[in-house]
Amino acid sequence: MLKNKEILLGITGGIAAYKSVLLLRKLTKAKANVNVIMTEHAKQFVGPLTFQTLSGNPVTSDLFTLFRSSEIGHVALADKADLLVIAPATANIIGKIANGIGDDFLTTMVMATTVPVLFAPSMNVHMYHSPIVQSNIEKLKSFGYFFIDPIEGELACKVDGKGRMAEVDDILEEIAILIHQKDLKNKKILITAGPTLEDIDPVRFISNNSSGKMGYALARMAIRRGAEVMLISGPSNLDIPYKAKAIKVRTADEMSEAVMKHYTNYDIIIKSAAVADFKTKSYSQHKIKKITDNLTIELTKNQDILKNLGSCKGDRLLVGFAAESENFIDNALGKLREKGVDLMVVNDISNKKIGFQSDYNECHLIFKDGSTRHIPFMDKDRVADDILDAIKSLI
Ligand code: PMT
Repeated sequence: MLKNKEILLGITGGIAAYKSVLLLRKLTKAKANVNVIMTEHAKQFVGPLTFQTLSGNPVTSDLFTLFRSSEIGHVALADKADLLVIAPATANIIGKIANGIGDDFLTTMVMATTVPVLFAPSMNVHMYHSPIVQSNIEKLKSFGYFFIDPIEGELACKVDGKGRMAEVDDILEEIAILIHQKDLKNKKILITAGPTLEDIDPVRFISNNSSGKMGYALARMAIRRGAEVMLISGPSNLDIPYKAKAIKVRTADEMSEAVMKHYTNYDIIIKSAAVADFKTKSYSQHKIKKITDNLTIELTKNQDILKNLGSCKGDRLLVGFAAESENFIDNALGKLREKGVDLMVVNDISNKKIGFQSDYNECHLIFKDGSTRHIPFMDKDRVADDILDAIKSLI
């Protein structure tokens, strides 16, 4: 996503400057080329050598730096960038830029660039809420600058409140969103992910191996492409993707209730969850004792959420997933027709390198007319992007 992107990282004088080291590390790990610009105050918190070593590029501060003998530094850097992020952004830098002051390399570059500029404010809670800072932020927003809000927590001044710089992973995701083409703008997508758990007694349950990675990747990529996303997820250890609305459920019945309550607000429904096909006929209120050698648990079928949606979806686009271990294209085509689905994504679950739990997947897409498309072995973000391309071709 950020591979070969040119990112300018502006660092100003706040204690959160130490987190910018991690941000730089993650940007370069994502294969972006990063040029760091520090204000004189920022150098009081972290030394330029750290940023120079990690970025592999010289750190700039001096307004009168020339690039390649004749290029003017702040203009040359601004010209070749894809995005400028200022993290941390102090009240001082926000105020200077909002009021047209360009007295160092960073402030002049903000004015010299036409690329998206993202501010990650970090300051004392009272400073952040002061009418001066708030009106400067509003002014910059009205000019088209982007902000990622600070978060609540203990601040360097030992006061609790909103003022801590946003989490580095969220800043990274906001950068990915700003850089990505918005070809799913105005689309509303409901995605189910993860397993469901069907309780037997207070300590035991029936479930499956789904981690949620495939569904969460779909949510993340759809958001980067501009869609509004609701994620309905069974139990998963993954963090809810940045900017996704989310509902956490446990059982197939809870997932069904959430999906049926919300699907009418969405244009596209993607059912990547591995819903348990069966639940126990009766739940034991107490832990079942090990008094016999054999135990029979009576199971009853869960309702088929995908099939129910197929019969009431109207002109919404319905995408199902199918986990198959044999005859996967024929079986999936059968499921597509039986459940009234527009597009089926098939995983060959006999291949242990893909599907459940893995960071990778390889799928076949089955369309209503019986045509198929192969998505090769890739990480789940890229597989999700290809699935979204196919969805886009159908809307
Ligand atoms: O979560 P990961 O670890 O990343 O793994 C991803 C995945 C392998 C779980 C995912 O890619 C996948 O294949 N999900 C669908 C698994 C599945 O339940 O397949 P199925 O063939 O049993 O069901 C077919 C479709 O019917 C699915 O869209 C399922 O959501 C839906 N279904 C099934 C049963 C049921 N009671 N209600 C349903 O809606």
